[in-house]
Amino acid sequence: MTNATNKGRVAVLGAGTMGAGIAQVAAMSGYSVSLFDVSTAQLDKARAGAAQSLDRMVAKGKLDAAAKESALTAIETFTDVAKAVAAASVVVEAVPERMELKRELFTAVDRAAPESALLGTNTSSLSITEIASVVRDPSRVVGLHFFNPVPVMELLEVVKGVRTSEQSVDAALTFSKALGKTAIVVRDFPGFATSRLGVAIGAEAIRMLEQGVASAEDIDRAMELGYRHPMGPLKLTDLVGLDVRLAILEHLHREVGEQFRPPALLRQMVRAGKLGKKSGEGFYKWDAEGARKA
Ligand code: 3HC
Repeated sequence: MTNATNKGRVAVLGAGTMGAGIAQVAAMSGYSVSLFDVSTAQLDKARAGAAQSLDRMVAKGKLDAAAKESALTAIETFTDVAKAVAAASVVVEAVPERMELKRELFTAVDRAAPESALLGTNTSSLSITEIASVVRDPSRVVGLHFFNPVPVMELLEVVKGVRTSEQSVDAALTFSKALGKTAIVVRDFPGFATSRLGVAIGAEAIRMLEQGVASAEDIDRAMELGYRHPMGPLKLTDLVGLDVRLAILEHLHREVGEQFRPPALLRQMVRAGKLGKKSGEGFYKWDAEGARKA
């Protein structure tokens, strides 16, 4: 990834973990970035998170200090969505997984973004076709599903809704390449190719913990050492966010079937505010720098 040329403007809507990561990667790849959130505190947190990740890359020799500075400078923050998307060539929505919220946002984006802009959603399981239905020209809407941590994970899952045009899929593939990602193209079906398999393993691990099969550490170690997963399913749920995984499971339970019924323990933990890394506690305890506490 380089930031030598300016390729246009990417508007990222939602400055949570994913939005911050997408903004960072777009900025590192030479795009100007408009990062929108309703909360200025969240925008500050996203900027600090991007700076921390860029520092890590500088420390590892993957990026020079000047490239870090120009990536940070390329990210402008907004609390007004119309201003954020006004000059965008690509919009990536990454707000919480609630259909009504996404539909409201896409209605506003449709009014304010240039007609030529590609409209992407980072939803991990909701229907692209349904989100697109509020946009006058739904052929512009495509799923752009990124993975956490965005600066490290290579995959971009491009999701083709019922009315998504081939031109939009091509634009999504070009965008993926510009970000240094490898894309797969999947049909709009609940959970796509990734979330469906990911949450199935995660939910089963939580049920095993409920049933006292083994400790959280040993369930994770089983998959790390026995199956070479880079991170066990409970640790990964802490990284992704327990609330995010619960929302995906609830959706897949409704849309696909009984095998996705969310475990009671997951519901209880989310009610208790144990959301994983971002809240400091999930199946493990985490410090403010994202390192595991003993
Ligand atoms: N920014 C920049 N660099 C980072 C980083 C970040 N946020 N996080 C990790 N890195 C870099 C490290 O600096 C390190 O670089 P190096 O190879 O040059 O030393 C490298 O990534 C590996 O990191 P660590 O050595 O700290 O630790 P690990 O080897 O355990 O890797 C991990 C961390 C990359 C997170 C790895 O454990 C992993 O791949 N885990 C699985 C992640 C995964 O499955 N993500 C998908 C979740 S599902 C999802 O996001 C979909 C959504 O819709 C819910």
